[in-house]
Amino acid sequence: MAELVVAAAAPAPAGRWGAAPPQELLERLKDYGQEGAFALWDELAPEERDFLVRDIQSIDLARIDRIVRCSLRSQGGPVPVVQPVPESSVATVDDRSPEDKERWWRRGLKAIAEGKLAVVLLAGGQGTRLGSSDPKGCFSIGLPSGKSLFQLQAERILCVQKLAAQSTDAPGNTPQIHWYIMTSPFTDETTRKFFESRRYFGLEPDQVTFFQQGTLPCVSPDGRFIMETPYKVARAPDGNGGVYAALKSKRLLDDMSARGVKYIDCYGVDNVLVRVADPTFLGYFIDKGVSAAAKVVRKAYPQEKVGVFVQRGRGGPLSVVEYSEMDASMTTEINQTTGRLRYCWSNVCLHMFSLEFLNQVTNSLEKDSVYHLADKKIPSIHGYTAGLKLEQFIFDVFTYSPSTALFEVMREEEFAPVKNANGATYDTPDSARLMLLRLHSRWVVAAGGFLTHSVPLYMTGVEVSPMCSYAGENLEAICRGRTFHAPSEISL
Ligand code: UD1
Repeated sequence: MAELVVAAAAPAPAGRWGAAPPQELLERLKDYGQEGAFALWDELAPEERDFLVRDIQSIDLARIDRIVRCSLRSQGGPVPVVQPVPESSVATVDDRSPEDKERWWRRGLKAIAEGKLAVVLLAGGQGTRLGSSDPKGCFSIGLPSGKSLFQLQAERILCVQKLAAQSTDAPGNTPQIHWYIMTSPFTDETTRKFFESRRYFGLEPDQVTFFQQGTLPCVSPDGRFIMETPYKVARAPDGNGGVYAALKSKRLLDDMSARGVKYIDCYGVDNVLVRVADPTFLGYFIDKGVSAAAKVVRKAYPQEKVGVFVQRGRGGPLSVVEYSEMDASMTTEINQTTGRLRYCWSNVCLHMFSLEFLNQVTNSLEKDSVYHLADKKIPSIHGYTAGLKLEQFIFDVFTYSPSTALFEVMREEEFAPVKNANGATYDTPDSARLMLLRLHSRWVVAAGGFLTHSVPLYMTGVEVSPMCSYAGENLEAICRGRTFHAPSEISL
């Protein structure tokens, strides 16, 4: 049985511990081979000793030991045989009839109007590649409106709520989509303040729940804790798959259940085109009756930094191989019949799960305790030390899913990630902004509007506020016969 985490132990008076570390704690550390954490005890000041004792007490030693052992063992084990996802497993854009799309859209809106959808945002990442110290969601990519990623997402939720209300017999009763936002110690405070200072972008404050993902000790290649200082164990966030342990430990799955939620839309923060709470995807998910689903796009080029969906063994479950764990030959292999990349279905971090499945899978994940091990240089008392960070990935649950559906979407409509700072070749604020402006310009023209522009149109466009349209619908009344000058925002 897992030991209790004493995360918020009452502060002890400074200097409570004497010449030797507390015996019982030392014995427990010895049980797990981690007594090295007390190696510098003699050199510590009284308040540092207090800090170290509290730090160790806050670690669930039995759980961490299980995670480290299972992950190291799994790393040394046989590499799972994978093969490309059969084409028949993907609902491609070409397969979709207008009737399908209409049916899924309506079905999704109905479920949303009935309060069955919740949204989970993964916003614990540090955005290191982007080079910004603020949480990525606070970032503005330079749209005419100046909106941040968080604001775009909040307004899309507001828009879907309105569409769901309009699809019912009682359009005055707007349903609420509950938004669960996962932060990390690096992003939590700034994210909360950002929302508060901007009045939740028009959402009700009580429809937003912030929760923090966990951290795990960083370990040496043989599994010992690395000490960041003589009185503090080095830790790192437990990856975006830490969302499962966090949802469970903070009883948020129960909270969802109490709200009548049945489906969970889960996505990454940095995709400017993300269709949050997408009724079409939800309707498709319900139609298929699966436990898990993911939107996919065709991989743009072999070295694109995306995970790809694979099938484990013949007829086995679908899963994702992350780009950081893929060998070079796998990224470039060509299917000789189609001439396309063999592993071509990119994961875009847009997932849908049933609540029932999440309830089951969190237990399985905890029981198996297999985490990804990332070789990193960890800041430590010995300078930067070669060590391991332990992470789970959001897509790790797919191997446990009794049924998974892959839903192709068009990159230019739904995937414009902001990963790198401007100046890089791909996935920058500039490239994402252009993708949004081009898409929205197409919507406006399709709705009968005209555009004028003082710079070449391929470098600019108009932005449509999510308060006007979610995915290009309902724009005729605003656009038909009107001329808009790019760049500008079309809003209500
Ligand atoms: C992620 C996917 C990758 C996919 C790509 C598409 C994972 C593990 N990888 O890669 O397969 O092809 O997006 O853009 O999902 N996050 C946390 N906590 C963490 C780490 C990350 O909440 O500890 C969040 C980030 O804030 C972000 C999302 O998870 O919203 C994805 O993380 P990021 O580091 O951007 O993933 P990629 O490496 O781009």
